[in-house]
Amino acid sequence: MMKQQGFPEGFLWGGALAANQVEGAWNQDGKGPSVADVVAYKPHLDVKDYAGHMGITLADVHAALAEPASNCYPKRRGIDFYHRYQGDLALFAEMGFKVLRVSIAWSRLFPTGEEQEPNEEGIAFYSNLFSDMQRLKIEPLVTLSHYEMPLALSLNYNGWVDRRVVDHFVRFARVCFERFGGKVKYWLTFNEIDSIHRHPFTTAGIIPEQCTPGKERQEIYQALHHQFVASALATAELRRLVPGAQMGCMLTKLTTYPNTCRPQDVEKTLWKNLENHFYADVQVFGEYPPLILSDLARRGIHIHMQEGDLDTLRQHTVDFVSFSYYMSLTESADDGLEKSAGNTILGVKNPYLPATDWGWQIDPLGLRISLLELYDRYRKPLFIVENGMGARDEVVDGKVHDPYRIDYFRAHIREMRTAVELGVELMGYTSWAPIDLISAGTSQMSKRYGFIYVDQDDEGNGTLARLRKDSFYWYRKVIASNGADLE
Ligand code: BG6
Repeated sequence: MMKQQGFPEGFLWGGALAANQVEGAWNQDGKGPSVADVVAYKPHLDVKDYAGHMGITLADVHAALAEPASNCYPKRRGIDFYHRYQGDLALFAEMGFKVLRVSIAWSRLFPTGEEQEPNEEGIAFYSNLFSDMQRLKIEPLVTLSHYEMPLALSLNYNGWVDRRVVDHFVRFARVCFERFGGKVKYWLTFNEIDSIHRHPFTTAGIIPEQCTPGKERQEIYQALHHQFVASALATAELRRLVPGAQMGCMLTKLTTYPNTCRPQDVEKTLWKNLENHFYADVQVFGEYPPLILSDLARRGIHIHMQEGDLDTLRQHTVDFVSFSYYMSLTESADDGLEKSAGNTILGVKNPYLPATDWGWQIDPLGLRISLLELYDRYRKPLFIVENGMGARDEVVDGKVHDPYRIDYFRAHIREMRTAVELGVELMGYTSWAPIDLISAGTSQMSKRYGFIYVDQDDEGNGTLARLRKDSFYWYRKVIASNGADLE
C-alpha cells in the first residue's frame, strides 16, 4: 500500500457552528423558546463552575420566560446569524471552506416540539441557507440536536426522560430529511451525546426538580437510552428518504491519561476512557458494552428497554464517527490533587501542558492519539467536527493579531496530518468556531474562537460588525494548500 502523503484530495476543510450560539432571532418568525434561550449569563461565577453556569431550576426557567426583553440571555441574540448569514457565508467562502457544520434549531421548525406540521418560516430559513451554501460550493454538515431542544418538551415531559420525546424527535428528523435531504448529504443526530451527564438540561431538557427524588442518575441514563433509540430510528429514516446520505455519531473526545504509572491510576483512567467510548460504541457497534451495563447494574442503574430497542440499535448503526477535541485530561486515584478545567469537566492538572486562559490544557499530540485510538477501535471514517481555542482578542487599529490561535491550529493540524499519514481515514476537519459566537459553557462572548471577530461584548453591546483576524488569512492558506502550508 502506498503511504498517504498529506491530506487526501477532497478533504473537507471548514468550520462548525451551532444554531443557539449564532442565530439569535429567538422569538422571530414563529420560533418557539428552546432550552438555550433560558440559560442566563452569570458574570459573577468562576468560569470553571460549569454546574453553576449550565444548571437550572424551574424558578430560573419561569424567571427567564417572564423577561422576554432581558439582555441577560445571550443565546437569544447569538451573533445575529439569522439575519447576517449571507455575509458570513461569503467570508467562509473567501477562506475557501469546503464544508460548514451548522445545526437546525428544533424549535424553529417545531416551536413546542409537539406540532404535527413544521413552521414554514423556519423551513424557509434553512432551505435558503443550504441553497446559498450549495451556490458557494460549501457542503453542509448538519447536526439535528445541538443543545437547543424546544423548552416545552423540557417543561411538559422533563425532556428526554420521557419516551414520547423519541417520536417527536423522529418526526422532526423526518421533516429535515424530506425538506433538506436534496441539499444535505452529511448528518449528525446528537452533538456530544455523552454530555447528558455533564449538563443534562442543555443536552436533554432535564430539570432536577422534575426528576423522581433520588433517581436523577437513573433517569439520565434512561433519557440517554431514548436518545440512542431516537438516533437509530432517525438513521433508518435517513436511509429510507435520502439514499446515499451519511449519518455520523458525535462524541466529546475526552482522552484521559493516568497521572502516574501506578496501577491504581491506570485502572481509574481505564474506566474513564471506557466510559468516554461507551456512547460511540453503542452507535457504531449497535449494542451496549457489557462492562458498562454490569457497572451500571452495580450502581443500581437499570435502563428500561422496550421490546425491539436492541434490534433497532443493532440495525441502524452510523456510517462515520465524528468528535470534538479541545484538550486532554489526566486522572489519578488520589483525590485532592490540583485540578484544571476542560470542556465542561475538570481533571488533574497535567504539568507537561500549557493551558488557555480558561484553563483548557493544550495538547496537540493528544489529537493524534485520539485519532489513532478511535480509528483502531471503530474502523470507520472519522470526522473532526470541533477543535479550537477560546481566547481574549483585542482589536488594535482595526486589526486582530492572534498568533496564539494560529499556533494552536497549526500544532493540531500537524498532528492530524501525521495521523492521516499513519493510515487514519479522516473525512474532514471543521474548526470551532470560524466566527466568534456565544460560549456554550459560560454564555460569554469574550471567549472568542473565530477567525472572524464579531463586535459584541458579554452584555450584548457592539455593532456586530465582522472583522478578519490574522488567523483568517492563515487558515485560507492552509485550505488552499490542502493542509500542506501551515507556516
Ligand atoms: C463543544 C460544544 O463542547 O464545545 C460547543 O459542542 C461549544 O457547542 C464548544 O461551544 C466550546 O465550548 P465553550 O463552552 O467554550 O463554548
